[in-house]
Amino acid sequence: MNVGRRRRLTAGNIFHVLPRKNCRIRLILAVTVAVLFLHVVFLCENLKDNDTSYVQYIQKTSLGRNLTIDSIARIWTWTPPPPITADLYPWCRPEGSSMSLPGLMYIKIDKTSSSTLTGINIRLAHRVGARSEHGVCSHTREHYRAYTRLSADRLRQSSPPLVWTFLRDPTTRAVSHYFHFYVSRQGYGVQYGVMSSILDSLKNFQTLYVIIPPRKRGFSNPGNVLAQVMESDLSLAFLNEAVLQQYNFIGLVERFDESLAVMKILWNLDLGDLIVLSAKKSGGYDDGRFRNSCTKIVKPGDYGQNSKEFKVLQRIQQYLWTDFRSDNLDFALYQAVNKSLDKTIAELGKLRVEQTVQQLRRMRGRVETKCQSSAVFPCSQNGTQQMEKSAKNCYWYDSGCAFQCVDQVVG
Ligand SMILES: *[C@@H]1O[C@H](CO)[C@@H](O)[C@H](O)[C@H]1NC(C)=O
Ligand SMILES: *[C@@H]1O[C@H](CO)[C@@H](O)[C@H](O)[C@H]1NC(C)=O
Ligand SMILES: *[C@@H]1O[C@H](CO)[C@@H](O)[C@H](O)[C@H]1NC(C)=O
Repeated sequence: MNVGRRRRLTAGNIFHVLPRKNCRIRLILAVTVAVLFLHVVFLCENLKDNDTSYVQYIQKTSLGRNLTIDSIARIWTWTPPPPITADLYPWCRPEGSSMSLPGLMYIKIDKTSSSTLTGINIRLAHRVGARSEHGVCSHTREHYRAYTRLSADRLRQSSPPLVWTFLRDPTTRAVSHYFHFYVSRQGYGVQYGVMSSILDSLKNFQTLYVIIPPRKRGFSNPGNVLAQVMESDLSLAFLNEAVLQQYNFIGLVERFDESLAVMKILWNLDLGDLIVLSAKKSGGYDDGRFRNSCTKIVKPGDYGQNSKEFKVLQRIQQYLWTDFRSDNLDFALYQAVNKSLDKTIAELGKLRVEQTVQQLRRMRGRVETKCQSSAVFPCSQNGTQQMEKSAKNCYWYDSGCAFQCVDQVVG
């Protein structure tokens, strides 16, 4: 092989390509390359450093507390501001102030009733905004992982936003994720190997979605931090610091109405603020945004008992009860949030919460009877896309459809 002939592209070779006379350009180029090199080295060091310093931070604040799930479960609270500046909704600020975070931030995790909950987030922004004469309170609508926009330091600045989310049982969420994104949208089958390896990649999905780190720069690589935290047995301390202590409220899909009732009481809301039509009563299609068309959502229950898919799904159940649970913080987080809901309900009064749940259900029942037929979802019952019509009927894609009708019913 004639190696000598082949010129490898190195910094030195680049200089030789330039005419000898052009000394200044060579100098500038050399300096630029050096600066770039130092930048890269410095940046890498920095990221590495901060990743470990994040773990050290957790160690410092929480090591030796012998944490249990019960001990990190918290009572959700909302302290209203002192009566003199009486503003019941200090998080509500006008839309359009680009400098600050939106006042109402719902962290929207895929496959956790997030279209319905987005409808509630928008409805809150509209109704509370109208009551506090801000027009519409600034709020979020799209999917993004919390750490990409929030850090604990930012949350401690003056006038912090109200930050909330809902979690879902990690097993059913992951299966739903597979069927939505892989089976329905990409045409994947139900085979054990493919499905279990994708479910494997969905471990810690909710945790990674919701973590809000104390220091933003320490979070250059959240997956890496998570791995370190699990290895060093600091996982509960981490969930406490980076999730439970950072949110104003976290609800559960499996305890939907109780969660909404707690939000109503904590944040001084009207029942009508929390009533939207479910986004999933629209005939089994998605929101019509993927490839700008309507996709029918396949569900595990669609396969008959004699199909080979049914047998694969039974084997997958085994996997979900065993391997899927190891190194998966979503389960611990879910339990801590479940316990937190219990503690909060006990604090607010079980009876009071129970009554609120009943009122909520009665009102939503009335709304569904009156408004379901006037809802125009982005995808019709037969899968025809009707975005223009639905845009006038819904707050945002399939979120909060028939809201004018809902407004009339709840008054
Ligand atoms: C944790 O608990 C164990 C058993 O209760 C106890 O022996 C140990 O000293 C505790 N560790 C710390 C650091 O508190
Ligand atoms: C969540 O809490 C409820 C009420 O305490 C309990 O019945 C249920 O078993 C808990 N679920 C999980 C998964 O821990
Ligand atoms: C599908 O539904 C839309 C709107 O509901 C309707 O206009 C259209 O005729 C239907 N198409 C078919 C093929 O049934």
